[in-house]
Amino acid sequence: MSDPRLRPDILDFEPYAPGLTIEEIKERYGLTRVVKLASNENPLGAPPLARKAAERAAALGFRYPRNLNPALVAAIAAHINAPLDQVLAGHGSDEMIDLLLRVICRPGQSNVICWDNAFSMYRLTAKLCGVEYRAVPRGPDLALPLDGLAAACDQNTAAVFVTSPDNPTGLTATKDELAALADRLPPRALLVLDEAYIDFARPVERFTGLPLALSRDNVVVLRTFSKYYGLAGFRLGYGVFPKTIADYMTRARIPFTIGVADEAAGLAALEDAAFLETTLAAVHASLDAMAAGLKALSCRVWPTQANFLMFQPPKPGRQVFQGLLERGIITRHLASFGLPEMIRVNAGTDEETALFLEALAGVLRG
Ligand SMILES: Cc1ncc(COP(=O)(O)O)c(C=O)c1O
Repeated sequence: MSDPRLRPDILDFEPYAPGLTIEEIKERYGLTRVVKLASNENPLGAPPLARKAAERAAALGFRYPRNLNPALVAAIAAHINAPLDQVLAGHGSDEMIDLLLRVICRPGQSNVICWDNAFSMYRLTAKLCGVEYRAVPRGPDLALPLDGLAAACDQNTAAVFVTSPDNPTGLTATKDELAALADRLPPRALLVLDEAYIDFARPVERFTGLPLALSRDNVVVLRTFSKYYGLAGFRLGYGVFPKTIADYMTRARIPFTIGVADEAAGLAALEDAAFLETTLAAVHASLDAMAAGLKALSCRVWPTQANFLMFQPPKPGRQVFQGLLERGIITRHLASFGLPEMIRVNAGTDEETALFLEALAGVLRG
C-alpha cells in the first residue's frame, strides 16, 4: 500500500539509472583492476590546475560561496562570447534542466518533447514538474527525428529537447538543421539544445547551436563541465537562455548550489588549455581505435561526435555487457534506454582502449 501523503502522479517514479561503479564491480567479481568506460567521463581524470585550485579553495569551505557565482558566470560568458545576462551556472546541467522546466512549465497543462531512447533526465524532471512528456519515434537506424519533434508540438509545448551530440547514439544534428527546427516551433515552445558532448564534435562549429541561442529568443543551450572539462564529481553545468527566462530562473533558484571548491575547479578548468588539448587528442584517438576494432569484431558501430560510441555486437547485448563486466570492463548496456541489443562505451586511455577491445574479443570468441 502506498503512503497516502504522496502525490499520486509520482507513485510510478523510476529512479535515474546511473552507470555501475568500479568499487561495486571489484567487490562483485573479486577483481583487483576494473576499467570504467560507462559514464562518459574524461579518461585523463580532473585537470591538474582544477585540482590545485579546489584544494586551495577548501580552506574557504566554512564560508558560503557568493550567490549565483558571478566570477564563474563571467568566465563562462567570456569563454563562449555570450552576454552576462544570458548565462547561468548550476550544480551540473541536471540542475539547469530542472530549474528551466520549473520556470517554464505549467503543471497539468504543458508538455515537454524529446525522442525515444533519450537521456532520461528530461522525462524524470517533466514528471516531477507534473507535466506530460512526449517521446517521438526515431527514424531508421535510430536517426534523430527532427521533423517528428516539430510535428509533435502544440500550443502547450513548453520545451523540445534535442541532445546533440545525442546520448546514447552519438548522432548529431547540424546547426542548419537546428535553425530550421527552431523556425518551426510554436510561439511558446523553447528549443533546448543539450550540448553536454559538443566539445568533442569534429568540427564544433558545424554542429553547435550556440549562435542560435545568442541570436534568437526561442533557443537554449545547456553545457556541462562533467565531460570535456573532467569535473563530473564536482557537479558543474551551465546554460545560455533567452534574457527573460534567465532572469526568472535567477529569481526562482535555490541559493548556493555551486560550492566554493566546485567554482574554483571550474574557473581553473576553463584556463587549463594544455589539459583540454590533450583530452581532445586522447578521446579522438581512442574512439578511432575503438571504431576500427569493433568493426573488425563484426560489431555495428554508429558514427559519433561525442566522447563515446554506441555499437551492436553480433551476440545479445546483455550477454556481451555481462561478459565484459566479468573481465573487469564496465560499459553501459542500453536496456535502460530501451535499446537492449546495444552497448555504449566511452573513450579511454590507450591502455583502457586496448583492454576493452581485448576483453570484447574474448567475450565474442567464448
Ligand atoms: C545528454 C546529457 N545531458 C546532461 C548530462 C548531465 O550532466 P551533468 O553532469 O552536468 O549534470 C548528461 C550526463 O551524462 C548527459 O549525458
